[in-house]
Amino acid sequence: MENIQTQDHIQPRKGRGRLILQFLKGSKAFFILCMICAALSALADMITPQIIRVTVDNVIGSAPADTLNPTVRCLLERFGGPEAIRGRLWIMALAVIAVAVIKVVTQYCFRVFNARGGETLVKNMRDTLFRHIEHLPFRWHMQNHTGDIIQRCTSDIDTTRNFISEQMTSLIRIGIMLVLSVVFMLGMNVTLTLIAMIPLPIIVWYSLFFHHKFRKGFQECDENEGKLSAMVQENLTGVRVVRAFGRERYERDRFGKQNSFYTSLWVKLGRLMAFFWCSADILSGVQIMLVVIFGVLFCLNRGMTAGEFIAFLSYNGMLVWPVRQLGRMISEMSKAGVGIDRIGYIMDAEEEQDVPDAQEPTMDGDIRFDHVSFSYDGSPEMLHDISLTVPAGTTLGILGGTGSGKSTMMYLLDRLYDLPEENGTISIGGTDIRKIRLEHLRRNIGIVLQEPFLFSRTLKENIAITVPDLQEEELRTAARAACLDDTIQSFTKGYDTAVGERGVTLSGGQKQRAAIARMLTRPTPIMIFDDSLSAVDTETDAKIRKELEKRFGSATIILISHRITTLAKADQVLVLDHGRIAQLGTPAELSKQDGLYKEIESIQSMSVEDTEEVNA
Ligand SMILES: Nc1ncnc2c1ncn2[C@@H]1O[C@H](COP(=O)(O)OP(=O)(O)OP(=O)(O)O)[C@@H](O)[C@H]1O
Ligand SMILES: [Mg+2]
Repeated sequence: MENIQTQDHIQPRKGRGRLILQFLKGSKAFFILCMICAALSALADMITPQIIRVTVDNVIGSAPADTLNPTVRCLLERFGGPEAIRGRLWIMALAVIAVAVIKVVTQYCFRVFNARGGETLVKNMRDTLFRHIEHLPFRWHMQNHTGDIIQRCTSDIDTTRNFISEQMTSLIRIGIMLVLSVVFMLGMNVTLTLIAMIPLPIIVWYSLFFHHKFRKGFQECDENEGKLSAMVQENLTGVRVVRAFGRERYERDRFGKQNSFYTSLWVKLGRLMAFFWCSADILSGVQIMLVVIFGVLFCLNRGMTAGEFIAFLSYNGMLVWPVRQLGRMISEMSKAGVGIDRIGYIMDAEEEQDVPDAQEPTMDGDIRFDHVSFSYDGSPEMLHDISLTVPAGTTLGILGGTGSGKSTMMYLLDRLYDLPEENGTISIGGTDIRKIRLEHLRRNIGIVLQEPFLFSRTLKENIAITVPDLQEEELRTAARAACLDDTIQSFTKGYDTAVGERGVTLSGGQKQRAAIARMLTRPTPIMIFDDSLSAVDTETDAKIRKELEKRFGSATIILISHRITTLAKADQVLVLDHGRIAQLGTPAELSKQDGLYKEIESIQSMSVEDTEEVNA
């Protein structure tokens, strides 16, 4: 887990083939069929020039029959020989049509298998990536931009699919065409074939020379597309902040700048590709010119027949076409390589894993922090030598300034971040939490996060998220305990009210209460409330706490709050100051000691008195 890489500067990845093979599960057969069809189609392409050659030389012309291949001669004999066919030229036309039909059928099958293979591949990739991302550590998610991850899971998947379903199959077709055309050309004229092949290494070298440049260009484009997506995603998520602070123009300018930069990268790449394709076309033109000049000379001086020359030119076209395509293929392959690397970046991230002998102990024991220190990646230490015990069934209140490390302590307890071995130990009932099976640990710790998150589903689905078959009455009891039932009943659709994306249609306090109700649907031996009553008024806060006390007497509760009234009933209160234990004791003890607790207590009691005076 220590080697989580950041998303910038992805290096070309080893093992791309292995990754592709992993994704190809279930679609391999379709692609093999595709390749067979591509091979048959390429073969059909090879036959037509031979038919034309025989027609020109032997049927229309008078070349002797013994120059023919025995199989072809046999075929011609079946129709009465070249002389007889001369009067029935439609036979040769029919042969051309028959070959064309074979080609059409193979191409149809190719497209059908390709579509099946491509879609199966994409589905498999999406499933695999989603499953993998779901199991990646919280820490990984914090280090990567959501928009960029989404881009990798959408457009990079498409690029990879195009590469496998288009380029890989084209590569097979190109390979077959290259080999077969050279074989046919050699069969007709060895010297002319060698002349035709002289410029090819130059064209291939030229293509490879540009390959590196394209790869870098595509990588830059892809990374910047990711940044653009992340910007859009962040703006949509933070639309309220943008509006509330009138930041539209600023955000628009920022987006505009990134968008222009992204566009300029594509324009630059487009220019490079245009230059490459045009110059590669000139090289191919030179090659064709050489073949034409020498072919004509051979026809005039060395007895090459007109039919052979026509067929040779066709095969040369088939030879040059793939070589010309090589440039396009290489640029597409570069693009796909970048896409695969970007997907590989996600797949390389290590999933959360249990230790080999992970245990599932009962979780109703004491919680103990033993000399715990912690720092986030690359940040200074946030928690310093924290040691304390929360006896089972008691309530620990935590108070501390913002950024003092309260939530961090809870993240560590829930193993959203793993505590490195040398940074102390957190144990529950004497078992080091690193040795507890993650799912077991989290199933037994109910946590209401500081920023409650609701899915864009109904209230019912949101509250019953951990217990899908929750009975109506249990659902309402949980909501009642969170002082939310009355509010929900006042909505026209009650529990079936959709809450909008991230719960936008609810107030902050309603969201917090929905998150509390969600936790209450499944009683757990440990419950954490991370400042989860901050957005509800003091009266409702008191009501909820009373309900909680009634419902879960035996649970161990950790209550993070800035309200003294909330903390006053705790068995002990921890006061954190810049990641250190500043005070630890019962509320009664702390209200007598000089320190943050006493200060806040007096400020808050003053404000209560003030309010009472104002009200009076
Ligand atoms: N994912 C993270 N990466 C790096 N630093 C982080 C991360 N999360 C929190 N921090 C830093 O760790 C420190 C403690 O944060 P934490 O969220 O634990 O504070 P807190 O006591 O819960 O504050 P608050 O009362 O505002 O919720 C802060 O300085 C914060 O900037
Ligand atoms: Mg916090």
